Amino acid sequence: MLQLMTLDLAKKAAGYKAVEHIKNNMIVGLGTGSTAAYFIEALILACKKGLQITAVASSEKSQKLALLGGIKVVDLNEVSHIDITVDGADEIDAQKRMIKGGGGAHVREKILASASTKVIIIIDETKFSSSIGTVKLPIEILPYGSKITQKKIENLGFQGKWRTTQDKPFISDNGNLILDLHFPIPPSSPENLHLQLKNIPGVVETGFFFHLAHTVIIGHKDGSTRIL
Ligand code: 5RP
Repeated sequence: MLQLMTLDLAKKAAGYKAVEHIKNNMIVGLGTGSTAAYFIEALILACKKGLQITAVASSEKSQKLALLGGIKVVDLNEVSHIDITVDGADEIDAQKRMIKGGGGAHVREKILASASTKVIIIIDETKFSSSIGTVKLPIEILPYGSKITQKKIENLGFQGKWRTTQDKPFISDNGNLILDLHFPIPPSSPENLHLQLKNIPGVVETGFFFHLAHTVIIGHKDGSTRIL
């Protein structure tokens, strides 16, 4: 319990620190997850004090949070660019390669990040890793022919497990399934594996993120932050 509380403090520290990068009139991309929720909380407070921004959200959940706090949220198709996106990660290495999708929102998160001038990743200190692949890799998959898609993925030599919620298949905001891939040892080339997976019909997107993180804010359990 104490561990959870201190981790929460680390996430909150990173989320609140990121708000310092948000300036008036920016179009802001909102990530998904518990750390991103702290950023949204801090953004709501800043907007109540007079900051004026327009947001686009990577998930229904984050959109709801922002709208409840009075933030103006528009559809991604209503903007021509995003100034800055702030999002969490499940794992990140020194080259800022990431695994995302723990919240099942990595497809929209990747679209937002790739459309953003700047991407700030906010993490607690446990997310930093010497090599990515120690956590499960989420893969979003079309329900149509999903068993065939799963077989093709597992033929690459990995074991996948369909994500569930309350004993039912987890369905993403895009109406798709998530297969979580377990690596006995971290893949030697995540980039190659990403390409192999993307080549399989039915795979919508993998949780590998390359060249998409510009700044990383690491929150520590004592409430301090460090920028990478
Ligand atoms: C959601 C994500 C999240 O950013 C990632 O899972 C980290 O979540 P949290 O901040 O709750 O640890 O990729 O799809």
